[in-house]
Amino acid sequence: MKRYHVTTFGCQMNEHDSERMKGMLESLGYAEADSQEQADLILFNTCSIREKADDRFTAHLGHAKRIKSQHPERIVGVGGCWAQSVKEEVFARFPFVDVAFGPGQVHKLAEFLTADSLSAQGYFEFEGFTGHLPAKRARDYQAWMQISVGCNCVCSYCIVPSTRGREVSRPSHELVAEARRLASEGVREITLLGQNVNSYGRDLPRDARSSFAELLGQLDAISGIDRIRYTSPHPKDMREDVIRAHAQLPSLCEHIHLPLQSGSSSVLKRMRRTYTRERYLDRVAMIREHVPDCALTTDIIVGFPGETEADFEQTLELADAVGYDGAFTFIYSPRRATEAATLPDQVPHEVKVERLERLVEVVQRRAFDRAQRFVGRALEVLVEGPSRTDPSRLRGRSRHNKVVNFAGLGEPGEFVEVEISSATSQTLSGQESIFARAAR
Ligand code: SAH
Ligand code: SF4
Ligand code: F3S
Repeated sequence: MKRYHVTTFGCQMNEHDSERMKGMLESLGYAEADSQEQADLILFNTCSIREKADDRFTAHLGHAKRIKSQHPERIVGVGGCWAQSVKEEVFARFPFVDVAFGPGQVHKLAEFLTADSLSAQGYFEFEGFTGHLPAKRARDYQAWMQISVGCNCVCSYCIVPSTRGREVSRPSHELVAEARRLASEGVREITLLGQNVNSYGRDLPRDARSSFAELLGQLDAISGIDRIRYTSPHPKDMREDVIRAHAQLPSLCEHIHLPLQSGSSSVLKRMRRTYTRERYLDRVAMIREHVPDCALTTDIIVGFPGETEADFEQTLELADAVGYDGAFTFIYSPRRATEAATLPDQVPHEVKVERLERLVEVVQRRAFDRAQRFVGRALEVLVEGPSRTDPSRLRGRSRHNKVVNFAGLGEPGEFVEVEISSATSQTLSGQESIFARAAR
């Protein structure tokens, strides 16, 4: 039997796509290998969001090259956003690569592998959803659901619109059927994926159109799905109906990841985010009004071209005022063929690093403060397995998407109640309630 190995970089959409690649390969009769050395087919699912992502991947590719030089019959494949962004150049720069394909062409890998001649091939159209391919899920009780692909935004720093194409939604009846099937297979938690989930449905024909809030309602009605999450929404499309859904739908979790990018309206404008600082804060206020306990997380970029000290201080101040439960913070990285890479006044690296450190300090301090609200409370936790730091304890996630490390007896995939006794900026710690267990 032939064996494959997939190394995945990048975001949750790539993790999802890799599950589909694996599912498709297994349906072709391949089995998963534990390491690249043991694989007949060495695959990479790549990311190109920042320069660091490119560097990490090209270092890995060097390893595959060494394997291929010893075993020329092995096949090296490169898929995902980096492959898409450099297209056929892949073969010129890395001649040992046999097949390259973009995120919209994962299904073509099967065609390539079953063809008679295995000469180098590249596939870069935008067509089809990886969500239509069979999946090999990492966990039985959690699943990704791809609700749309692509992005119609034009954020001036971002490479994704060129690597994933225009936004295309999957019809809601198809998604409901998929969620029903997942529930019947024992899935308890689904995470809806899209580059801009809350613009979902706008491209669908009128008679098949659901808004994102309607889709959430349809999925919430499916019995067996106890938790629904989604990532990422765009602040410009964050409508009241979606926020209200968090208060009304029992399975929709109390967590919203609302990417800010910058707290300065003039930077936001040059980023082409199409909202201002004030409008963003309005959305936050609306969330806090309808769902007071909702966890809020975000993405922030420092050192965007032309960002002044005063602009940056507005970001710091906003992060302090909102008090995020967590934030991903990034140094701006110029990307090929993006507008921002050509803007004047690129910020020197030392300034970017210094701003990042100051921002991380505020983010962590506020996340720590926010997490203290959980101490003394009993939270529903979906058990994921042993704790990473202390294998005698368990690890799981609360509805707020907080990692909880605790002493208890729950099995992976089980919901338990945990009494929280302490909290850091990143994780909560506690003990499973014995009384709750006895009552079940
Ligand atoms: N579609 C999602 C995810 C985009 S990528 C969204 O819009 O939220 C995830 C994050 O990477 C972005 O939110 C942004 O903060 C960051 N990012 C994207 N391009 C970047 C760049 N060129 N430099 C630094 N960070 C970037
Ligand atoms: Fe990139 Fe903006 Fe689209 Fe997100 S919304 S993927 S940041 S272009
Ligand atoms: Fe994701 Fe990276 Fe592509 S963040 S969408 S894999 S560029």
